[in-house]
Amino acid sequence: MTLIQCVLGIETSCDETGIAVFHADTGIKSQHVYSQFELHSRYGGVVPELASRDHIRKIAPLVQQSLDDAGITASHLDGIAYTSGPGLIGALMVGAAFGRSLAWSLDVPAIGVHHMEAHLLAPLLTERIPTFPFVALLVSGGHTMLVLVTKIGSYRLLGQSLDDAVGEAFDKTAKLLGLDYPGGPEIARLAEHGDPQKFDFPRPMTNRPGLDFSFSGLKTAVKNAVASNKPASSQLIADVAASFERAVAETLVIKCRRALDHTQSQTLVLSGGVAANQTLRNYVQRLDCEVLYPPMELCTDNGSMIAFAGYQRLAAGYQEPLSVTSQARWNIEELESVLD
Ligand code: KG4
Ligand code: ZN
Repeated sequence: MTLIQCVLGIETSCDETGIAVFHADTGIKSQHVYSQFELHSRYGGVVPELASRDHIRKIAPLVQQSLDDAGITASHLDGIAYTSGPGLIGALMVGAAFGRSLAWSLDVPAIGVHHMEAHLLAPLLTERIPTFPFVALLVSGGHTMLVLVTKIGSYRLLGQSLDDAVGEAFDKTAKLLGLDYPGGPEIARLAEHGDPQKFDFPRPMTNRPGLDFSFSGLKTAVKNAVASNKPASSQLIADVAASFERAVAETLVIKCRRALDHTQSQTLVLSGGVAANQTLRNYVQRLDCEVLYPPMELCTDNGSMIAFAGYQRLAAGYQEPLSVTSQARWNIEELESVLD
């Protein structure tokens, strides 16, 4: 088996083209993220066909730029990792076809990475490495999951959102408030000037046992609050944003506490795009356990987390056949564990 050290990571599951070079000895050697938010903002959300086309435009130049910045050529790569699911199928296919073909042309192994596993492992790229087992709260635009991680590749889904993902709730609420896409950072920015106690929005599904979530009712509560306070001043919008953030953070923290108790774990890992939210970070810090999260640039979609997750599997001897596969839906519990 060839020694795997230098891996190219390709992320194209949604509206970011993320490329990175990871080396086993030195960590991330280079990374580039191109966000398509301007392309999609006028539609108020991601338009899948436009996303695929833009990935096609950006992928080759970004790979070249990442190799140049890492000071290597493609011939130095020992393997290629690309997101093969879950995500927008057309967008995924761009990264998978490009990555699989590049690996074939270089005669190196390729690996398709589970996007949420990559988010989950991103905190391991930092110096404070969590000890297994730990609970991971994965909060992104498409998923909200509590996962028990016993080792790399061994995941038990403890709970998930039954409707909107947290990021989706941020984005939809932002749209209701007349804010730009993506809504998460916009709400966070406004919330800084708002009163988080002003509105008492629901903490969905916290008054009954279980670890599942539901966020669709929150946006209705926001809608009603705005409707009964017309015309909404900018201060009122900021108060709604801050109160919404507080409701989301408190709900997530209640479920994290339950998951930690239920699994007797001492460590919580927070990851995914919404983990960039400072209020949420402040709230989880109050939990009586070790809390780890990746730096901001590794929370939202990026190529480094794909390169790193792919490296784990390639180094353990896993690789894809020559066929190109992508899957829009993919249960994280179906992954095989990586033996150490
Ligand atoms: O993980 P991610 O980059 O992409 C997916 O895999 O979905 O997450 C994107 C989501 C979006 O819904 C975005 O609004 C949200 O993360 N997000 C935030 C913040 N930054 C990004 N939500 C709240 N606060 C933030 N600072
Ligand atoms: Zn993501």
